[in-house]
Amino acid sequence: MRIDILTIFPSFFDSPLRESIIHRACERGLLDIRVHDLRVWTLDKHRVTDDAPYGGGAGMVMKPEPLFAAIEQLRAESPGATTVLLSPQGRVWNQPLVREYGERPGLILVCGRYEGVDERVRMALIDEEISIGDYVLAGGETAAMVLVETVARQVPGVVGQAESVEHDSFFSGLLDHPHYTRPPVFRGLAVPEVLLSGDHAAITRWRRREALRQTLRKRPDLLAAADLGAEDLKLLDHLGSADDDDA
Ligand code: ADE
Repeated sequence: MRIDILTIFPSFFDSPLRESIIHRACERGLLDIRVHDLRVWTLDKHRVTDDAPYGGGAGMVMKPEPLFAAIEQLRAESPGATTVLLSPQGRVWNQPLVREYGERPGLILVCGRYEGVDERVRMALIDEEISIGDYVLAGGETAAMVLVETVARQVPGVVGQAESVEHDSFFSGLLDHPHYTRPPVFRGLAVPEVLLSGDHAAITRWRRREALRQTLRKRPDLLAAADLGAEDLKLLDHLGSADDDDA
């Protein structure tokens, strides 16, 4: 998958793209991530990318000329790519959207700064506007990195075992079950017996029940849209009426 990132702070991405899973995926050719400095498309001596808003008021607006030139060029270079503006006015990013974006051939991520971009850019060139949450960041760069990392995990081969993506929190709309490693007893706290039993069917049942329990306890709002079977509904019914510590 090709991902182009358009920003006035290209060095923001140096370290996150050099680390760990994303770096390995780029080295192996699974991801092709290109960071572009918007100033390259400015024509004036001072390489200005913003201007004062018509109508007055505080803050600056990102000018249309460099953004049009840059986005048009990147769209021509990456046919079929979705052009995304990161902004607090966008659709809120979540795991179903992550999965949907994972299927796309390419993304062009436009990082907004200041008060936003000139509306004509949004109208003419932006396919989708995405927010990573209901709060305001200094700019779209942090949000773009969130998109890169979450979408990259969907690309086949990026995460070591395909399994670990399938078992991710939210994969079936539930929170993850708890995890344990050695030692079996630490400061008097024992690992649940079933995980040491070697009985794989029992372990799978325990993990599903604990995922349901965590979701019911911490994020009951997720249950309405979760992918639940008859057995899950029975377990939920039991968990809902039982004491919280019930195993
Ligand atoms: N830019 C500023 N705030 C943002 C947010 N919450 N999501 C995406 N881009 C942003």
